[in-house]
Amino acid sequence: SKNGELHGKHVIVTAGGTHEPLDPVRFLGNRSSGRMGVELAVSAAARGAEVTLIAAHCTVPLPIGDSRIHVVQVNSAMEMHSAVDRFLASADALVMSAAVADYRPAEVSSVKLKKTTMGDEPTLTLVKNPDILASVCASPLKPRIVIGFAAETGENYLESGAQKVHSKGADYIAVNRVGESIGFGEVDSTLVVFNSAGDTVAQLSGQKKILAEGLVDILVAASA
Ligand code: PMT
Repeated sequence: SKNGELHGKHVIVTAGGTHEPLDPVRFLGNRSSGRMGVELAVSAAARGAEVTLIAAHCTVPLPIGDSRIHVVQVNSAMEMHSAVDRFLASADALVMSAAVADYRPAEVSSVKLKKTTMGDEPTLTLVKNPDILASVCASPLKPRIVIGFAAETGENYLESGAQKVHSKGADYIAVNRVGESIGFGEVDSTLVVFNSAGDTVAQLSGQKKILAEGLVDILVAASA
């Protein structure tokens, strides 16, 4: 039946934006609301999947009451990486819609940073975060189907987004444009989905619920 196509499948979905701490009160973050990931979790559960929703910072409500969705909350990219690893062995699919920071502050101060010690032109040193998506795709525990996202700005956003299917090693990449009032939050949006051969497999437009349903259709077709 249309409602049970993902019955017996375990799908990991990541959502929201990571917070990379600087000190006890400050962090480096991004504009992700978590809407895309939450809609994906709800759509996959509606099609019968057992869902682990690994949620970084989300401004939208989390689907706490849904018995098919197990919510795991994390803060940073490092925490998200260990949470994803923890569920990988049992997963049939992973959808990485979280906005993960590529870098984190090299040092996290245990006390609030102060102007008196930071001076007039403080410099922040950043170190690279692990690439969760690329590391999952290179792992022997890679789930059968991995869908990554690419959040792009500028002219050649489709080309540079499509490249990420190769650089990350994913089965599919969903490319979207992002900016101050596009891509993030309660907005209609567009996703262009590429497979690992570089072919366009879907072009989805509208509310994030509609985009999520379209991506779950791809999961269903690929799991069959
Ligand atoms: O949350 P919303 O407000 O609804 O907004 C949705 C969204 C714009 C956040 C979403 O549609 C989206 O594009 N998510 C991916 C954001 C992102 O981090 O894109 P990226 O192009 O920087 O990364 C490419 C892929 O690698 C993504 O699947 C990302 O999750 C993953 N990644 C990135 C960095 C990193 N260190 N580890 C990763 O796994």
